[in-house]
Amino acid sequence: MKKLFILANWKSNKTIDTAEEWIHSFHKQFEPKLSLDSKEIIISPSFTLFEHLHYCTDNLKLPFSFAAQNISPFTEGSYTGEVNGRQIKEFANYVIIGHSERRGNFFEDDLILTNKVKQAKKYNLIPIFCVQGKETRVPDSIDMVLYEPIFAIGTGNPDTPSNAEEVADFLKTNYKIKYVLYGGSITSKNAKDFTQMPHLDGIAVGRESLDPVEFFKICKNA
Ligand code: PGA
Repeated sequence: MKKLFILANWKSNKTIDTAEEWIHSFHKQFEPKLSLDSKEIIISPSFTLFEHLHYCTDNLKLPFSFAAQNISPFTEGSYTGEVNGRQIKEFANYVIIGHSERRGNFFEDDLILTNKVKQAKKYNLIPIFCVQGKETRVPDSIDMVLYEPIFAIGTGNPDTPSNAEEVADFLKTNYKIKYVLYGGSITSKNAKDFTQMPHLDGIAVGRESLDPVEFFKICKNA
């Protein structure tokens, strides 16, 4: 059975209190109803939530991995407002780089993204590099890509599983990518349609990951 990655991208949502409620609600449903044998659940919260989420998930023995939603393109030093790779490594093993929301709202271009990937690698973080289509440039030495077509993000209008499969096949053939995830309007109803595609190794969930009941269903159905 292939390994599946299920990424919950909370984006700029939740406070410490509401994140804790989410964890408790997920945990209530968790045992013994979800077999995680071949599934890795990766939670990607805001930086402010990491410490408390670690405390809660350690206490409840929830086997989550963590991803940062962003990384400084610089090393540590005089870069006001940035969170660098060394700091992230204290809380996460993955980092999302190149999401369309960061490319669009924060003007992140290929040079910035390449520097972010370099910083991630320097601190042994695994970049989850986002591409919006076959034409998106992928930096060297990327193992994991998230295909997130802009028309599908937060719109309720997902790509077709067969098109996502074709893009995944293209990325694996042309860039030697090991794992390709699909993201864009994933729900508990369509999750399996994507994860059963031979070249897709998982899914990224935005809006529907904010609700622990729906996210649990997604993890179960995927
Ligand atoms: P969505 O976001 O599930 O809300 O469409 C997905 C993403 O940003 O990857």
